[in-house]
Amino acid sequence: MDPTANSTSVLKRAESVKLLVLGGGYCGQRLMHHAAAAGINGWISQRDPAASLAVPAGWSVIGFDSESDLRPSHRELSGLTHVVSTIAPDPGGEDPVLKHLGGLLLELKPAWLGYLSTTGVYGDTGGAWVDETSACQPASGRSRARLACELCWQALGLPVQIFRLPAIYGPGRNVLEDLRNGRSRLLHKPGQVFCRVHVDDICGALLHCLQHPDHQQARVVNVSDDEPCASSEQLGYGAHLLGRSLPPLQRFAEVSAQMSPMARSFWQENRRVSNQLLCQQLGYQLRYPSYREGLRACLAEESGQAGAAGPGSAT
Ligand SMILES: NC(=O)c1ccc[n+]([C@@H]2O[C@H](COP(=O)([O-])OP(=O)(O)OC[C@H]3O[C@@H](n4cnc5c(N)ncnc54)[C@H](OP(=O)(O)O)[C@@H]3O)[C@@H](O)[C@H]2O)c1
Repeated sequence: MDPTANSTSVLKRAESVKLLVLGGGYCGQRLMHHAAAAGINGWISQRDPAASLAVPAGWSVIGFDSESDLRPSHRELSGLTHVVSTIAPDPGGEDPVLKHLGGLLLELKPAWLGYLSTTGVYGDTGGAWVDETSACQPASGRSRARLACELCWQALGLPVQIFRLPAIYGPGRNVLEDLRNGRSRLLHKPGQVFCRVHVDDICGALLHCLQHPDHQQARVVNVSDDEPCASSEQLGYGAHLLGRSLPPLQRFAEVSAQMSPMARSFWQENRRVSNQLLCQQLGYQLRYPSYREGLRACLAEESGQAGAAGPGSAT
């Protein structure tokens, strides 16, 4: 379904924004469609120039691959005003964008840059709440690299905002998918919660902050929904929506040894991420305050229901 189908909000001065979205993956593509629906033109990067990514009017694809050193020229990005990077650290822990495009960004001097990071930088708090003022105590090498990349972005000398994200879900990437194809696991670990955010709220929050220069004073912003909860709770709701039965319950302690190191590392961290800064102080209204509204919208969009999901009200 066209994710712009339900779009209603056009940003103030949208025509003066020329946005570069680095990384045409899950968030990048969705952001492009939200931005286009809000009246913003721009570019989206792809590693494989031969892959044909469908772009809306006013948008074009540029090649960027830090590994092959494919990168856009100053001339190609002429008129650029805003940037969002969705690209994770490279296997060496360095930021591919800063390493290969940092000089170009300094020449182009965008008015605002958003960097997508993760709430993994907070580490394990035993389930306690964290906000943007909390100490970062990343436990995994992956999260330590992420925090180092955040610091490099902040040291760039341009107006950068860091957006810390928990587990991202949305159409085509959610527990409904897992339930349908038999990949879901009903795991229980006493006291364990997870935070999550719908991809449309990431896009909404980015466009909200992008258009409010005063918001740039918040150098780090958590983008998380209102309801951290056990993964079994979300899975149970997904099974209810689909009318399917749940897989058998497994105890984390009994199956953790068979889990991938990545999956195990997620389960070894337990925290509740506050969105008060974004939702109270910066005035962003979540479109999907919990997994319930979010999963219902995913199901509607995946079933191709008219008017389902898509950007608009939240931006
Ligand atoms: N998934 C989650 O639940 C989660 C949670 C918190 C934070 N995050 C972070 O949020 C960000 C956005 O997530 P996402 O799910 O949208 O990621 P995604 O779908 O994997 O998209 C990332 C994009 O970056 C591109 N890319 C990766 N390495 C690159 C390089 N060296 N040079 C040029 N392009 C490169 C990828 O290109 P290809 O399309 O060619 O692969 C892809 O288009 C990522 O940084 C992710 O780590 C994710």
